[in-house]
Amino acid sequence: MKILLATAELHPFSKTGGLADMVSALAKSLASEGHEVGVVTPLYRGIVDRFSELRRLDYEVVVPMNGTIETSAIQTLEYRKNLTVYFVDHPGYYDRAALYGEENMEYPDNPSRFVFFSKAVAHLARYFSWRPDIVHVHDWQAGLVPVLMKNQALLEAWNAPSSVLTIHNLAYQGHYSRARMFPLTNLPEEFFNPLGVEFNGGVNCLKSGIVYSDAITTVSPRYAREICTEEYGCSLDPILRGRQNILTGILNGVDYEEWNTTKNIHLHHHYTPKSLKKKALNKRELQHELGLPVDETIPMFGTVTRLVDQKGVDIILGALEEMLACNMQFVLLGSGDPEIQRAYLSLERRFPKKVCSRIGYDLALSHRIEAGIDFFLMPSRFEPCGLNQMYSLRYGTIPIVRRTGGLDDSVVDLTENLGRADGIKFSEFSMPALAKAIKKALVLFETPDLFDKMRVNAMTADFSWKRTTADYLAVYRAALGKTE
Ligand code: ADP
Ligand code: GLC
Repeated sequence: MKILLATAELHPFSKTGGLADMVSALAKSLASEGHEVGVVTPLYRGIVDRFSELRRLDYEVVVPMNGTIETSAIQTLEYRKNLTVYFVDHPGYYDRAALYGEENMEYPDNPSRFVFFSKAVAHLARYFSWRPDIVHVHDWQAGLVPVLMKNQALLEAWNAPSSVLTIHNLAYQGHYSRARMFPLTNLPEEFFNPLGVEFNGGVNCLKSGIVYSDAITTVSPRYAREICTEEYGCSLDPILRGRQNILTGILNGVDYEEWNTTKNIHLHHHYTPKSLKKKALNKRELQHELGLPVDETIPMFGTVTRLVDQKGVDIILGALEEMLACNMQFVLLGSGDPEIQRAYLSLERRFPKKVCSRIGYDLALSHRIEAGIDFFLMPSRFEPCGLNQMYSLRYGTIPIVRRTGGLDDSVVDLTENLGRADGIKFSEFSMPALAKAIKKALVLFETPDLFDKMRVNAMTADFSWKRTTADYLAVYRAALGKTE
């Protein structure tokens, strides 16, 4: 099959969260199974400097944007066999210090930046010599691609590829006022209606994707059910319920080429389930690096996260207030909401021997934290899939998660299966519920036989991409059948 993926983030070129990891791993896995894969993504600042192999295609994107014409070059990289990355090279839109915004403010021209990106994807699908069977778009930034292709197909009697939308996070929808957004799309007026791109009087990119795609997926089975409810539906639940027949939840896999404990340039000491003792050496290195007392008998908790509401970083703060009286350590690596950043820095000042708050983004440190700590905290309000809990499992670090979305689908609690348990789960979104889960972890830490058994279960749990890729291929086939 020929598959064109469209994403605003792609590891190792650009990343703010799991989207980058997921699309990169999906692309590699499809390519390794012999499919021809292209990925379209913006050419952000710094990519050319880091990847000198990029070369410019003899191809130009030329599209209307409201009353003007915008053009961009396309740079390509043969990333590996069967996998080519197409970078949309428009410095005016993408040569910026960040991907979506700075200082917690989104760039004011994000509507133009991502309408243009979606138009570039549709342009490639239509005019480039390599013709995909499937165009698989990710999240709101590429959400307009299916409707743009539909419109083009109507105009030119073009047999457009089938389209698939993956929702990685329903909370980000790309919803803008009609005046700001609709003229940029250059779509005919009839598309602006409640059955089309319109939502509550504005244009909603994710909703457009939901309405116009041939198939919809999201990143875990439980989240697929949750988003059809009012509680988790972010106002789009009625529309999703109407599309439930083409909505599938597929749990993300883990790219074990990147996230492993045996061949990993970021780790000081490599280990396997058979040499778990060496994990403690990583813990000591980490404690030293963070300036915390070096002592492997102190239970160490941590998290690596975007500091946003979704992740429950507020209840972590509350639970730690209660729990830090105990003998324990905690490390946070994250960035985001300035107020939450300040709260974590203040916690560190108050408990300098127990808490380390690293504000920032640091890939290498994220690996060392996963390997060094004993328990990973992920008490999300909602979690479409979540990758960190699966990375933790592979690193023999016990995840403490709330029963929601992909967290529930990927972690096994003692109460669910004594023999296969690999994590601690709790249900209620509250500080006391998290504090109670942390207390359970402290007891587990003092019960070495069970703790080791759970760590071995964790390290041997398998979330490789083979199963996930097979599920995506089934969705692609169904989508192809629909348009054929
Ligand atoms: P989300 O995509 O909602 O942020 P995921 O768990 O799916 O959540 O993926 C988050 C990814 O981003 C993981 O690879 C995680 O390690 C990474 N990440 C998040 N914050 C940071 C940070 N401050 N430094 C390094 N990596 C980070
Ligand atoms: C989103 C979700 C996260 C998921 C990731 C990759 O950012 O918040 O749960 O793991 O996408 O699919």
